[in-house]
Amino acid sequence: MFEGKTILLGVSGGIAAYKAAQLASDLAKTAADVHVVMTQNATQFVTPLTFETLVNNKVAVDTFDRNFEYNVEHVSLAKKADVILVAPATANVIAKMAAGIADDMLTTTILAASCPKIVAPAMNTGMYDNPITQRNLETLKAFGVEVIEPDSGYLACGDTGRGRLPDNGRLFEAVRRALAPKDFQGKRVLVTAGPTREAIDPVRYITNHSTGKMGYQVAAAAARRGAKVTLVSGPVSLQAPLGVELVPVVSAQEMFQAVTSRAGEQDLIIKCAAVADYRPETVADNKIKKSEGSMSIPLTRTQDILGWLGANRKPGQILCGFSMETRDLVENSAAKLEKKRVDMIVANNLKDAGAGFGTDTNLVTIITKAGMERLPLMGKDQVADALLDRLLTLQS
Ligand code: C5P
Repeated sequence: MFEGKTILLGVSGGIAAYKAAQLASDLAKTAADVHVVMTQNATQFVTPLTFETLVNNKVAVDTFDRNFEYNVEHVSLAKKADVILVAPATANVIAKMAAGIADDMLTTTILAASCPKIVAPAMNTGMYDNPITQRNLETLKAFGVEVIEPDSGYLACGDTGRGRLPDNGRLFEAVRRALAPKDFQGKRVLVTAGPTREAIDPVRYITNHSTGKMGYQVAAAAARRGAKVTLVSGPVSLQAPLGVELVPVVSAQEMFQAVTSRAGEQDLIIKCAAVADYRPETVADNKIKKSEGSMSIPLTRTQDILGWLGANRKPGQILCGFSMETRDLVENSAAKLEKKRVDMIVANNLKDAGAGFGTDTNLVTIITKAGMERLPLMGKDQVADALLDRLLTLQS
């Protein structure tokens, strides 16, 4: 996604400019070519040298800088850029953008560029809440500029309120979304993630080690690629990905309800969740008191959600399940393809290094009726894109 792309980071003169250095560093670690343009005021907070060192490109500040290789740098950068992110965007730069003023390198470049533009306002809360700034932001939105809402909290000026630059993860994700191919545009995708919890009594439950990381990456990737995504998630400690509708559930029964009631509207369903196979037959109303002897809890099977989906799918709908095994990975997983009547099983072995619960990487084998494909060890975000690529070919 970043390969061969040019990202232009515009930095304007607010104290949050120091945070943009970390963002520049994160962006520079991708395959993209990252350029930074600063306003004169921004250079009072952070020196151009900081950004130059991080992104390995000369930082542009003054439109009339004679050290540039080409004297129409703003036009050249504007043409090259695949996305422009202004972070932090001050009230002043936002006002200039809204009015079409181009009186320095950053604003001339922005005005000349036709690529997607994102602004991340960060300023004193009074300036942000001022109806003039709000009107300017509305103007930018009307022109198709994406505005990332600032966070609320303590501001460097001593005030508390809206105006903090969001964390780098959100800014990075906004850039990634802008660069992603929109090959899932118009598709409705339902993803399940995380574990389920099966109550024993008001205090205890049965669960597993799933953290939801894989499912959340699949949901994020599908949304980035233009899908309308519903994420049905068991209890996890992850933030819902940008632009995804989150449906939180706790038990397998709740997940069954949430998924099956929405299944009819979906073009694709990807079941990453580690659903409990058994739940206690009854849930005690009060805490079960301990005694000296051993105890046992009668368990009953939960409903197989994916199995139900396979038996009740609407025409043209694509179903993908996950399979986690500790032995005979391929045999066990291929059997699920048949048994659950699905189009794809993504199999991973818990015992493989770099695969399984809680890791940021995964080592998967993709199994379809056409055969199987073992992917190399990759980040869960890359696995998500790889399996979406394969699912897209199954649908057409
Ligand atoms: O049969 P097994 O649990 O190994 O299959 C795993 C796949 O089935 C996963 O995609 C999981 O989300 C799904 N599953 C389900 N409902 C269950 C158990 C598993 O949808 N009760």
